[in-house]
Order: sequence, then structure tokens, then C-alpha cells
Amino acid sequence: MKIAQALCAAALLCAAPFVHAQAWPAKPVTWIVPFAAGGPTDAMARDIADKVGRQIGQAIVIENAAGAGGTIGAGKAAKAAPDGYTFLVGHMGYMGAAPSLYKKLGYDPVKDFDAVFRFPDTPLVLLVPKSSPYKSADALIAAAKAAPNKINFGNAGVGSTSHLIAALFESRAGIQVTSVSYKGAAPAMNDLVGGQVDAMFDQSNTALPQVTGGRVNAIALTSLTPMSQQYPGVPALAEKTLPGFEAATWYGLYAPKGVPKDVVGKLHQAYLKALADKEWTHRMAAQGIHLLPDAQYAPESFARHTAAEVEKWRKVATDAKIQID
Ligand code: MLT
Repeated sequence: MKIAQALCAAALLCAAPFVHAQAWPAKPVTWIVPFAAGGPTDAMARDIADKVGRQIGQAIVIENAAGAGGTIGAGKAAKAAPDGYTFLVGHMGYMGAAPSLYKKLGYDPVKDFDAVFRFPDTPLVLLVPKSSPYKSADALIAAAKAAPNKINFGNAGVGSTSHLIAALFESRAGIQVTSVSYKGAAPAMNDLVGGQVDAMFDQSNTALPQVTGGRVNAIALTSLTPMSQQYPGVPALAEKTLPGFEAATWYGLYAPKGVPKDVVGKLHQAYLKALADKEWTHRMAAQGIHLLPDAQYAPESFARHTAAEVEKWRKVATDAKIQID
């Protein structure tokens, strides 16, 4: 027997994938967040990464790779080694709608990724600056009808949820607004507070401190019914203005295709264990985050959801004439 074979037989040095999987996680794990720090995706990712990191006994490091509505960071994650140390925090925009919006995307949300687990969902809120003359969605719509393209809507980037929901709102309300894109919701929010943009859709949970802090006004919600605990007195668009209008952002964790299955299993189990902390889930619910049944967080269910959303957005983008040049 040659020396290498002997070592192999004695110490299983040749069974690299097995040894690797057993040892995972042997070092900190990176989650790519493709938006600026301080926005909704970043905040949700950091909160969940902290809880999951404690369960797996390793730090989860957030890497912000912002630009082009999340598609730059997603493209980077798609090309990363599927070794269990690089993941993507994905959402409805760049992992659901993007294939229907971009002519050249550079990645396929279904073929280039393995779903790991889904996060809870968040509805959005329509915000205006404190000094805005628009005290309701009806007033904003009337002004936009009177002067097409005069009202500016800030968003987190082309194809971000804030952009997509504004486009759906435009289509349903029969108005045209001017879109102003940033590298994430956080810089867009800064300009909304400063009055440089006239309106913006943002995730209801991260917008809440801006509203309660008196920096911006909330004029409508994209949840089907009002969120009276978080946004007292703020109507849902579906109630009167745009019957049936409902939108919430879905998020979740993905790995580059081919990641070891047991790594996915360990992360999913760690997440479920973290969710057993009722203090944490109550805190999320109090912010207006929609918790889901456990089965919907599972990798298989999340993979099916991703594929279904890619298909759904083909029709939505065509019907609402949402295009990206
Ligand atoms: C979005 O609108 O897609 C997100 O809110 C972007 C972000 O997290 O900054």
C-alpha cells in the first residue's frame, strides 16, 4: 500500500466532503445583503443572523454588496463557492421579479441557488415627508393625475420592492410618477426625511421608528387590512382607494447551488430553534412583521415558493408594464 493510500485508510483524509460537512461551521459564515446597511433587508438579516449564529456557534458576518436593486450582490453570491460559508439574503425583487425585468440578469434565482429557509414577510407603508401637502393616498393620486410625472417616488433601486410596489401602485391607480433610485431604502429614506423626494414605499417594520419619531408621515398600508397596533389611523390601500391591493415583501436565505445538504439542514434547524424564542417572535410581530407557519420556512417549501414567484412576476410585470431599460 502506498503512503498516501495508507494515510487515507487510517485517517479518512480522502473523504474530504464528509469531513468538511462534519466540521461545518469551522469559521465565520458570510451572508451577502445586496443593499446599503441600515435598510429593511439589512436589519432583518442582522437580526436573524445574530439568532442563527448563536445556534450554530459561529459568527455570521453581513457583507453589504449594494447596487442595481440587489442584482449585483445576488450575482456575486451565485458565483461564490458552494462550500457553506457564503449565502445570499434574497427577496421578492432580485430573486422573484428580476428575471422578468432585466434583459441580462447574469444569474437564475432557481437554477443557480439552493433555498435554505424563508424569513417572515413584511407589508409596506406609503410614506411622505412631514411637510408634504398629501395627507392621504387619494390626495396623492389626484395630484399625480393632474400633473403626470411631477411627483417623485424614492426607492431602494431598480427592481427593489419599493420600486416594484410603487410600479404596481402606479398601474392600479392609473398614474405616472418619476422614480428616483438609491442603493437601498436607508439612503432613500434620508432623502424622504429631507424632502428631496415626495413619497416612498418602505417596509412597515423599519419605517415605524421614522413615523413614530415624527420624521415622516404614513398615509397608506399595503396590507389587506389596517395595522392598527403599529399604524393607528392609517388606512390600507385595499380598504377604499384600491380595493384588493395587497403586497408584502418575502425574504429568505439562499446558498450558491450545490451547497452540502446537511449544511442547509443545520441552518434550517438552527433557525427553527431560534424561532422558538417567543420573546423574539413577539417583538417581530409587534413591529408588524408577519410570522409564517413553520412549514413555510422549510427549504423545500421556500424553493417551491421562489419558483412560483418567478412565474407569477412574469405575468405581473407584463400586466403592470413594469420594465427596466
Ligand atoms: C427594497 O425596497 O427592496 C428594500 O427595502 C431595500 C433595502 O433593504 O434597502
